[in-house]
Amino acid sequence: MEAKTPEQSKTTLTDMVLPGETNPLGNLFGGELLARMDRAASIAARRHTRHIVVTASVNHVAFSRAVPLGSVVTVEAKVSRAFKTSVEVFIDVWIEDRESGNKTKANEGIYTFVAVDETGRPIAVPAVVPETDLEKERFEAALRRKQLSLLLAGKIKPSEASELKALFE
Ligand SMILES: CC(C)(COP(=O)(O)OP(=O)(O)OC[C@H]1O[C@@H](n2cnc3c(N)ncnc32)[C@H](O)[C@@H]1OP(=O)(O)O)[C@@H](O)C(=O)NCCC(=O)NCCS
Repeated sequence: MEAKTPEQSKTTLTDMVLPGETNPLGNLFGGELLARMDRAASIAARRHTRHIVVTASVNHVAFSRAVPLGSVVTVEAKVSRAFKTSVEVFIDVWIEDRESGNKTKANEGIYTFVAVDETGRPIAVPAVVPETDLEKERFEAALRRKQLSLLLAGKIKPSEASELKALFE
């Protein structure tokens, strides 16, 4: 199986915030943003694996900036690291200024997808070869995030989380 770069899975979704998608303050409803992130991330995971993928976990989401009604929102997803059957996908969310066209980072999220066959059984995925400094940084930290996610899900014991233990040594 040939390794791929994060750029090969890059998926960009651009859309507006409409009235039915906002909270009482007139900002984008969090669940709506999560759905857009999930859609972009699952396409990126599919482009990397070329298989059916399912969302296994949402490891992290930071809603650091509100996204007002009428905003043009760009959701960009790329596979940051692949393991045996799972991939981590990093999602960056940008809002575009109407007058200047400049994009400001609004939010980010990190999702894990598992590639499965037609019966839902996990199957092996290609490796990731990071190219840019940011891609290398995200690749390096991905194993730590995977162990944290598995620990919180009760799927590994604290003694098995070697990368997390190393943080405190
Ligand atoms: C995701 C799913 C396929 C994993 O099945 P499983 O029996 O736990 O399979 P495994 O234990 O073999 O794990 C498969 C991979 O998922 C990873 N994984 C499982 N749970 C995880 C979690 N909470 N966080 C991070 N990775 C996880 C495992 O580490 C393993 O990765 P690796 O092979 O790359 O090392 C299964 O739980 C599933 O189908 N869930 C429903 C998915 C779904 O419907 N999503 C949409 C939400 S409605």
